[in-house]
Amino acid sequence: MSTRFKGKVGLITGAGSGIGRCTALQFGREGAQVACADIDIAGAEETVELIREAGGNATAIRCDVSDEEAVNRCVDKCIEEFGGLQILSNVAGIAGFISMEDHSTTEWRRFQSINLDGPFFMSRAALPHLLKNEQSAIVNVASVAGLIGQASCAAYCSSKAGVIGLTRSMAMEFLSQGLRVNAVCPGAVLTPLVSKFTFPEGFDMKSIQRINLDGRMSEPEEIAEAIAFLASDSARSINGISLPIDFGLSIG
Ligand SMILES: NC(=O)c1ccc[n+]([C@@H]2O[C@H](COP(=O)([O-])OP(=O)(O)OC[C@H]3O[C@@H](n4cnc5c(N)ncnc54)[C@H](O)[C@@H]3O)[C@@H](O)[C@H]2O)c1
Repeated sequence: MSTRFKGKVGLITGAGSGIGRCTALQFGREGAQVACADIDIAGAEETVELIREAGGNATAIRCDVSDEEAVNRCVDKCIEEFGGLQILSNVAGIAGFISMEDHSTTEWRRFQSINLDGPFFMSRAALPHLLKNEQSAIVNVASVAGLIGQASCAAYCSSKAGVIGLTRSMAMEFLSQGLRVNAVCPGAVLTPLVSKFTFPEGFDMKSIQRINLDGRMSEPEEIAEAIAFLASDSARSINGISLPIDFGLSIG
């Protein structure tokens, strides 16, 4: 097993399920000490158990990424526990289909606060610690929905396009200080998130077939591997990209 993250500390949000859990496990198996943050503390604790079973070291932190103060406390806890921070991966997020005509302001704000404020709050809180290292990395999980259009998905598409903008701006701002900032843009990934989707009345299901290319879905482990690569020193020349992991959907 590779030890490419030995001596590093990684903070992963959304670590209690799906892509976040696989990402935390990947870093943990490869030697990082991992802070597993999630609003679902039971899920985060299960992930910690899996990392420990694999011989790694991890801790679970309950955190709602849309709550600025909770995010600050989460970063403080990670530093208290592990003494530093080299890698941040903002994975936590929600998704869903809402027709524009019925879209409430409350739902709109909920998407922006978790999917976009979350990575902003987390990155800002982590910055002073990340910048203490010669090399550090942030990897955000955006989505192919931030690159292409998807019907009845205004809040989600906008929040993920925002994550891509945040990634690019931070990449330009901090490269000279040793911090790289990248994102991944998965297409459809087999996780609990997707199985819980509901659709508005009259929704044209053909538009979904387009987004997963008639049934092609990635495994969450594949996304975790790409995140780990972008966070690793092998990607030292890669900065500001939003990597599609989508079978080519976004170029079609
Ligand atoms: N599954 C897909 O097809 C897909 C595709 C593209 C992008 N993504 C993105 O990947 C990320 C992870 O999704 P997933 O598929 O693994 O979903 P998931 O539902 O399996 O995991 C999401 C995790 O985020 C946590 N979370 C939700 N709200 C939170 C909050 N306010 N604070 C802290 N944690 C919170 C949940 O508790 C859960 O553990 C999301 O940002 C999602 O938008 C997923």
